[in-house]
Amino acid sequence: MIQIIGAGAIGCLWLAKLLQAKQTCHIVSRSAFISSKLHFTHLTGEEQQFTISHSHRLLNTKESEQNSTILVCVKAPQVLNALLMQKEYISSQQVIILMHNGYGCAEEVKQHFPNNPIVCATTANASLFKKTDNPKIESPLCVTETGHGPSFFGAFNTVDFKSHNTDLSKVILPFQKAMQDVYWSEDIIEKCWLKLAINAAINPLTAIKQIQNGQLQDEQYMALINKILEEVTCIANAEKILLTMPFLQKTVSDVIQATTENFSSMNRDIFYKRPTEIDYINGYLLNKAKSHKIKAPILSDLYAQIKALEHH
Ligand code: PAF
Repeated sequence: MIQIIGAGAIGCLWLAKLLQAKQTCHIVSRSAFISSKLHFTHLTGEEQQFTISHSHRLLNTKESEQNSTILVCVKAPQVLNALLMQKEYISSQQVIILMHNGYGCAEEVKQHFPNNPIVCATTANASLFKKTDNPKIESPLCVTETGHGPSFFGAFNTVDFKSHNTDLSKVILPFQKAMQDVYWSEDIIEKCWLKLAINAAINPLTAIKQIQNGQLQDEQYMALINKILEEVTCIANAEKILLTMPFLQKTVSDVIQATTENFSSMNRDIFYKRPTEIDYINGYLLNKAKSHKIKAPILSDLYAQIKALEHH
């Protein structure tokens, strides 16, 4: 059984895909607007209605009748709190999967859940809350899949979980049944840093300028993105993460190309006056830069601009 914490667009995307693949799931949400029906539109345009099991808390091992896997799909600043609120329902045998933008949460979670196997995951899948044109559908949970890409899962606390004597990679089997392009990664930390670099290059700029990702193709922004990536490369290399400038430049440019029409998540957070994930993107990178005595003026300036907008 998979228990998902967070009924946002990505949590609901996995819920729909897992239910479609006949996996048993439960979703935890603190929202008053959660309903027992999820209306989901697949990338193909096919619409499906699911009856979902949900509550304000995780099911404990007795209630779920097995050791369920916990997939955390809330935003980085909420991850630790969301898990601490459920602590009494989490046993040390349960695998905790963290899937969010930014980096740094796994270290925090490990401090509070030292015996749980922790898996970090990144996904390039995309979805949105969107009402359908179908007048018969009144479910308040209407989610549309808007993009498909690979998902990588990998062990964060490799050494510790070996004591559990289990093959942690098996945890992805239900996810592989649910979606294509789901992989176990032995270098998940590098994959997370790559996503971190992509988010550092795209998110603050699109949020400050309130532009779509595609508008970053403009020359003035590409010059700035190159400077951001130079700073990220320098910090990553100091951390022994082997990212190179040509690889990052190509990857970021491919992501911009593939998501031209999208508003980045930080763009939407600023637009809707929500807190952003900046502390887990630029904030995380700046902390690492400081510990290596590396200067990162552009990352720092963008961090300050987002903080100012957050408090506006
Ligand atoms: O945060 C986001 O919006 C996404 O991770 C990405 C890849 C930047 C695309 O918009």
